[in-house]
Amino acid sequence: MTTILTASPEEAAAYVRAGELSAFPTETVYGLGADALRPDAVQKIFAAKGRPSDNPLIVHVAAGEQVERLCASVPASARTLMDRFWPGPLTVILQKSEAVPAVVTAGLSTVGLRWPRHPRARAFLEACETPVAAPSANRSGRPSPTTWQAVQQDLDGRIACILKGGRTEAGVESTVVDCTTTPPTVLRPGAISVEALREEIGDVIAENGETDAAPRSPGTRHRHYAPRASVVLVSTPEEATPTSRAAYIGLAVPDAGQEFARVRAVSSLDEYAAELFHFFREADRDDVDTIYAQTVSDDGLGRALNDRLRRAAAR
Ligand code: TXA
Ligand code: MG
Repeated sequence: MTTILTASPEEAAAYVRAGELSAFPTETVYGLGADALRPDAVQKIFAAKGRPSDNPLIVHVAAGEQVERLCASVPASARTLMDRFWPGPLTVILQKSEAVPAVVTAGLSTVGLRWPRHPRARAFLEACETPVAAPSANRSGRPSPTTWQAVQQDLDGRIACILKGGRTEAGVESTVVDCTTTPPTVLRPGAISVEALREEIGDVIAENGETDAAPRSPGTRHRHYAPRASVVLVSTPEEATPTSRAAYIGLAVPDAGQEFARVRAVSSLDEYAAELFHFFREADRDDVDTIYAQTVSDDGLGRALNDRLRRAAAR
């Protein structure tokens, strides 16, 4: 299959309407979209990515009203969060309606819904004229794509179309919040911090640490975000062993004497998140064998960053 590159949301949407796959930019990472109401089309996502079929997909909408059709009910907590954070990098988990095919939710009775804020994503989703099931547009296990070139690297020849856009803004995925529990539960920390959620709805369950915090989010069980190089977590650059085949990324600047093949000293958590997956792919291109990544404090976006770092480092 030849993968078409386009800057036209309408052209990319035409493939989705025809039951094919189009990758598209969002404010978090690039997504790989299919018509969520067509099981045959959704099946192609799992094939193209090599994604385990027990990992459910997020359904993307072009307007808040589409939610009614896709879920059985909207609890007050979900309503509040959607009003505050949509369009934006928030995925809410709700009881699904019969309209959502089982292949989308991997057989679960719930569905994840998200309305992205990225202008080109919104134009694309509107032109699709159907809800769009979309995981991150990487081969399963690889770092999520933050550029269209990264999508091409992973999926060229395996999907119909890539809708081009710039580098994605957030660089980490949406925050996934299960609103079927009281209080709601964060299943995946992401671009919206737990603190920001708590400001809106008070109590939110969000676990920390090494244990699998979210057994109800099947995707979190699988290997994720991994470059070819091994990722080694450090709390300071001095813990790293500089070599000509090692790379370093973190908030702290390594000593002048520490010579790495590639160094990225970021100046904020936002910048760290925006750079991380891109850095992983660049380091792979340099043929680096070890990527040292500095962990951060768990506040704000730090929680999502540490989550991605830990998963990338897990072998
Ligand atoms: O920012 C994002 O969320 C991006 C863009 C493209 O929207 N999408 C994304 O999708 O990251 P994906 O498939 O790579 O990650 C979705 C996560 C997985 O961990 C999956 O298990 C979880 O959401 N998920 C989806 N539906 C669920 C459900 N019904 N119950 C529990 N977890 C669910
Ligand atoms: Mg993913």
